[in-house]
Amino acid sequence: LASAEFDIGGVAPGKTITVKWRGKPVFIRHRTPAEISGEANVSLAELRDEETDDDRTLKPEWLVVLGICTHLGCVPLSGAGDFNGWFCPCHGSHYDISGRIRKGPAPLNLEVPPYKFTEETKILIG
Ligand code: FES
Repeated sequence: LASAEFDIGGVAPGKTITVKWRGKPVFIRHRTPAEISGEANVSLAELRDEETDDDRTLKPEWLVVLGICTHLGCVPLSGAGDFNGWFCPCHGSHYDISGRIRKGPAPLNLEVPPYKFTEETKILIG
């Protein structure tokens, strides 16, 4: 089905952009070294939906996740919540900077869509 390419070269470290793919919001975050090491150091025992940060990224600098809360589908807010990743205001789910559910009613991590890098700072989603 429809793939879409995005140029992410202009996204500064620490910033998140939201793009649309198949009508759905996709968050692309350019993570800082501190954010990367923070997420890498989270122990699986702390996680409801156990996935390492490494499992969720192709390049640690870039996190790509669907912007759809896994509880009932609201769009979470970027750079918010107790774990500084995303906060879903509908019923209070908190996600970390790997998009993993850390607190609140959502059962699963934000979904990582199929994607690949076509150039250093260009990604093809889908
Ligand atoms: Fe996000 Fe319910 S839809 S917490």
